[in-house]
Formats: sequence, structure tokens, C-alpha cells
Amino acid sequence: MHNHQNRKSAGETNFGGRAWLRALLAAGLALPLMFGPTLVASAPNRPGAQGHAAIGSAAVDDARQLAADREPGTWMSAGRTYDEQRYSPLTVIDKANVKQLGLAWYGDIDTERGQEATPVVVDGVLYVTSAWSMVKAFDARTGRKLWEYDPKVDRATGQIACCDVVNRGVAAWKGRIYLGALDGRLIALDGRTGKVDWSVQTTDPKQPYTITQVPRVVKGMVIIGNAGAEYTCRGYVSAYDAATGKLRWRFYTVPAAPGDPTNTPLLDKAARTWSGEFWKFGGGATAWDTILYDPKTDLIYFGTGNGLSWSREIRSPGGGDNLFVSSIIAVKAETGRYVWHFQEVPGDQWDYDNTNPMMTADLKIGGKPRHVLMQAPKTGFFYVWDAATGKLLSAARFAPANWASKIDLKTGRPVENPGARYTAAKAVIVYPAPLGAHNWHPMSFSPRTGLVYIPVTENSTGFAGVKPDGFKTNSRTYNTGTVSFSDEITRLYAQPGAPARGNIRSYLQAWNPVTGREAWRVPDKDYGASGTMVTASDIVFSGNWSGEFTALDARTGQRLWAGPTQATVVAAPSTYTIAGEQYVAILVGARGLPPGQARTSAVSANNSRILVFKLGGQAQLPSAAVKAAGATSHTLNPPLMSGTNEQVIDGQAIYGRYCSGCHGAGGVAEKTIPDLRYSTTLHSLADWNAIVLGGARADKGMVSFKSILADGEAEAILHYIVSQANKDKATEEAAAKTGR
Ligand code: HEC
Repeated sequence: MHNHQNRKSAGETNFGGRAWLRALLAAGLALPLMFGPTLVASAPNRPGAQGHAAIGSAAVDDARQLAADREPGTWMSAGRTYDEQRYSPLTVIDKANVKQLGLAWYGDIDTERGQEATPVVVDGVLYVTSAWSMVKAFDARTGRKLWEYDPKVDRATGQIACCDVVNRGVAAWKGRIYLGALDGRLIALDGRTGKVDWSVQTTDPKQPYTITQVPRVVKGMVIIGNAGAEYTCRGYVSAYDAATGKLRWRFYTVPAAPGDPTNTPLLDKAARTWSGEFWKFGGGATAWDTILYDPKTDLIYFGTGNGLSWSREIRSPGGGDNLFVSSIIAVKAETGRYVWHFQEVPGDQWDYDNTNPMMTADLKIGGKPRHVLMQAPKTGFFYVWDAATGKLLSAARFAPANWASKIDLKTGRPVENPGARYTAAKAVIVYPAPLGAHNWHPMSFSPRTGLVYIPVTENSTGFAGVKPDGFKTNSRTYNTGTVSFSDEITRLYAQPGAPARGNIRSYLQAWNPVTGREAWRVPDKDYGASGTMVTASDIVFSGNWSGEFTALDARTGQRLWAGPTQATVVAAPSTYTIAGEQYVAILVGARGLPPGQARTSAVSANNSRILVFKLGGQAQLPSAAVKAAGATSHTLNPPLMSGTNEQVIDGQAIYGRYCSGCHGAGGVAEKTIPDLRYSTTLHSLADWNAIVLGGARADKGMVSFKSILADGEAEAILHYIVSQANKDKATEEAAAKTGR
């Protein structure tokens, strides 16, 4: 695909004018290989982007990662550099030629669930993970698959994965590729072959822990946290020796029962911000996403999630801040020793995890250079801290929020709306909802424009607590201690001035972290967030839920280019060069197909694929629709209602507790998991029970609930879903009649 036009345009833009100078300064070691098309054609056997390491050697170490900007053609860690700005100095693709982007190659991903990984590209190989923690390695230039690895995670683990069986990518280090598997294993693979070098269980397998995050390698240690704060888990972050897998340190984020040997003096102090027998529920505060290392401060930062249960009335009946729930914690890299913390949401009860992507940057604030840490968390407030001390510099609101009016810069505490806290006796409407104004989807920062590119989602939810008396946890299910559907919540939403319920709108926002203001925003046609990346050509790359991968002007938001993905995009892109050609890679697939898109992949109902674009790329995605075996119908066709009122009401509560986490609140599936209202199994209690109790689909992630449900409960859920489906069918029919 090295057609003449492509080579010429790449050459012109890369080696002409200021772009050339930038490339020269930035390219460092890469220069010899970046010169000209002749070399591209004559050096087919040297696909290593920089030429100084053999293909597949994954030869990343401290020095190379620290000097990542000297090899702009490599994307050697998920955030590219330690600061995780997801900014690429590459300028081969620029505003003038970006319209020539075409598909260079693609690779099919053989899973049906959410795909969240950022491709890592080093020494000529692109490494990407998919749902169920599987890894694939491709020749980054040709797309030839070099190896794949499946850790064979027990599909029953899906039951304890709060938010799908996703994985956000690998780390590379001294020849090894590190993977955090859903079942809590940390696995080191040989970068050339994909063979397991070592594997350690980082969690108690009897506890409902999962891992979906990217491991980070810092000073020869692999740093990894975990998830499970909706179940019965207590959060911690561990450091393992990268060569041997030996545990070096562990930091627990919340106290255990008094006298527990894992309680440090710091945690004993933290225990004073809790009340009651909080440890009985597990504690929560899992650090499930971002772990960031900053070489300037030599600190590792991680964010912690919600407390367990979400309802504070249950987990800490006397109130309190509940340290270190919903906080940022900074520890010494070598030892994991505590240095500072900042609790963003004291006494959180809205699932406002603060695990969201963070980055460090050098900004000029009030005319003074500051080395800062930044985060756009679920809460809707954009935080800027001094990276060394954790001192709050600003916290401006970047999205609508009704739980707090502002953040007090002196105390660092939110000024809560007095109506924002719910109890068992009091329901509230809160926005942002638990999915947040900004969740795990990577944001990016350009030091050239000074802007942060955030995928923002606006949403609202109702909350009420369940009665604390007699509240019991079950390690295989959600234990949030909340309800989001009730007559009272429906009444609140019906009141004048109430916000829309559920998902409202989404947009890509360019945010100025110095002024605390939005520079521009581009609304999405279809609701949903996708990760971002920005380049030195002032181009922001991002996918969307309409089935596109887009290039936007980083200064104005103007759309410069869009290519089809045939799939929903949630992950963030990365970019690299090989022999002077710039490639942009994006993993696609999640949460059903975009509107109007047919299935074209034989191996994934979501058209999950790794797509790699370059200037003049000529590859084509398949156009023929693939018939999916056993696909659920897309018209509501439920049987007539036959359940009693009691069954429907019970079924609603049981569904909310055990099923809605995967199948969607109110029976409306948001994910890649069947919407039960459409299921043909509604017509046969025997078929329904074979799946729900008999485990007939356990190999696909629908485990048996036999040990969890009491007699008659599976049937009650069926009646509830049938009732929902009939209601929704009636609404659809009425709407069709009135032409709305
Ligand atoms: C951990 C996630 C998860 C939970 C929790 C869960 N399911 Fe499922 N369920 C799935 C997945 C994944 C499938 C699709 C399996 C497949 O591909 O065949 C599924 C499929 C089904 C189906 C078959 C639908 C069809 O027509 O193909 C039924 C019925 C069902 N689930 C009922 C339930 C009920 C009832 C509950 C609560 C007691 C529940 N599920 C909880 C993940 C889950």
C-alpha cells in the first residue's frame, strides 16, 4: 500500500517547513529511518520503529521510558509517557493531509464484550488486549498476527465484574508484556512469543476481586490495583518485582477490623473517620483504574473508588469522611510509603469513584510555572493540584452537577447541596449519575494548545438507601445498599424542573485547565464516551458511538476527517511511525452496534477489531452482513402477563439486586449483554430456568444463580421482565399511533 501519492504527501508534509523542524527536533534516534520514501521501500526488514531494538524485543526500561519524547514514533506505555498526557509529538499526519487517512490494516478481535484497551506499540509490534483479558500481538506495519494469549479466565468471573469483563491494556518492560487478568492474576508474558514467564495471584481468589486496569511498570516494579467495591472487597495497590513477580509492597486504601495486622498507624487514624462495624461490608475504595508515576516528584498516584456500601447510612451509620474512599493517594515509588492524600468526595455515597485518568503537566498558573497533577473525575469538577504536595490549585466545574455547588479551595471540600444526600427514608435525584461526567475513558492534553480533551457525558439518577437494619452482603452480587427505581423517585422526576432521567447527552470537550473554562465542545450524535489522543499537528483523534473514528482540529473542534469503524468506540487511540509512515491505531467494539450498523464480523457480534489507519491506506472493512446465530429479535414480542402483582414487584427488586448490573437498569440493556425484554426465553419458564438456574449459558458469562436465588425468585424476575416488556410495547404502539 505504498502508493506513489501516499509517499509523496507523507514526504512533503513531514520534511517541509516547520513540520520538518519539529520532526527533526523530536525524532532523535528515529531520524535515519524517517528520511524519505526510498528508505521506506528499501528497508522492509527493519520494521522496528526506531531501528535500535529487534522486532518484538519490548526493550523498554527506565531510561527509554523517561526519554520517550526522543522516540515519538513509539507508544511504549498506555499513556505513552509517564505523565500520561496521551500527546504524540508526531506530525507526519497533519491538518492538510489528514483527509487522506485510510485503513492500513485491521485485525479481528474474537470477543463480544467491551473493548477498552489502548494499543501499546514498541519495537515494531502492536500489543492490544480485549475483553476477557486476552492479548494479541500484531506486526505493527503489516497487521500480521504474531501471537495471541488467552489466560482462560473462568467465565463465572463475569458475575463479579461490576462493569463488564473489560481490560485496558498491557505494559512492556525488558522483553516482557504485563497483563492484569480479570480473575486477579498478574501475568508476565514473553514479548516475542506470548508464552507465560511468570504469573502471580494478586488477590484472594475466594474474594470477588477483579482487575481491568493497565499495569504500570515503575523502577523495575509492576504496580497493580483491583476492583470489587460493589461486592465485598477492600481496596489495595501492590508492587511486584517485574523480573520475578515477588511482592515488594502493598498499600491498603481503607482500614480493616480493629487489630487486623494489615492496619498501619495511618489506617488506624483513618478508622476514626468511620463509624460502626464498617469492615463487615468490606470497605471498598478499590483503585481500579489510573496509577500514575511522576519522575519529577518520584511519587506514584492512584485514585480510589466508592465505599462499600454506597449508602453511607449503612456502611458508617454515624457519618464521617470514611478515609480513603474517593480520594487521590500519593505514595513513594520504591516503598509505597504514604506521602499525601486528597479526598475529593468525603463520605461519598453517589459512587463518585476518583479512579479516573490523571496526568501530570507543567502549567503556568497566575504567571508562575507549576508542576501539577490533573483529573476530570465523575463529579463534574476539574481538579488541578500541586503534584508534589497535593495542594489544591483549582477545581472548576466542567459539567453540570447538582450534588455540590463548588469546591472550597481553602479546605478542598465540596460545598454539598443540602438536598444531595439520600437515606432509606429520603430519595434524591443526583447528577452526575454513577457513570459520571467523565469515567475511565482516557483524556489527553496538548502542551501546544494548553487544552485537555475530555469525553464528557451528562446523566442523572435517582437514589434512595435500603434500610440499614438487617442489611446483608453477598459476595457474588452488588451490595450498593441503594435503589434507583421507586415510586418516590418516579415522582421526583415528574416534578417541574427535574432533569432528564438516565443518559442525557455527551460531547468532546476542550478544557483549559489554567482558566478553568471550556474552549470548545463537539456534541455527539449518539450518546457515549470514547477516549482521546492529541498530536503535535494539533489534531485530536477520537472515536464515537455512531461508528466513526474522527480527527478534529485541536484548536477549534472543527471536524477534519472521519472514517467508519462499524463498531461502537470506547477505547483511546495511539499513534506510531514505522519507516517514516505515521499510523493511528484504535481498538473498537462495545455495547452493541452503532445505529443502523450490520454485523460484519464472524467472530464478534460487536464488530470488535483493531483498526490501524495511515495516509493513503487502502484496506477495506468487510461490507457483507454476517448472520448472527441465535440473535435476539429487535421487536418486543413478550407473552401476555401471567404473573401476580406480588411476583412483578418482587421480581423488580430481585432483578435490581442481581441482574441489572449486567442486563441494565429497568430491564433496558445498555451493554453488550442481551436486553431481556426482547428475549425469546420469556415464552418458556423452562428455557428461562435452564439459563438462570441451570447455567446453560455459563460459558458465555451468564452464570447460574441457583445458589443465590430463593425458590420462585427466578420466576418472579421473569414476570417482572414480561411486565416491563408489555408496558414498553404498549408505549411503542401508542407512540406509533400518534406518530411521535
Ligand atoms: C455478570 C453479568 C450477568 C448477570 C449479573 C446476569 N446475566 Fe444474564 N446474561 C449475561 C450474559 C453475558 C448473557 C448472554 C449469554 C450469551 O451470549 O448467550 C446473558 C443472558 C441471559 C439470558 C438469555 C437471554 C437470551 O435471550 O439470549 C437470560 C434469560 C438471562 N441472562 C437472565 C438473567 C437473570 C434473570 C439474571 C439475574 C438473576 C441475570 N441474567 C444476571 C450476563 C449476566
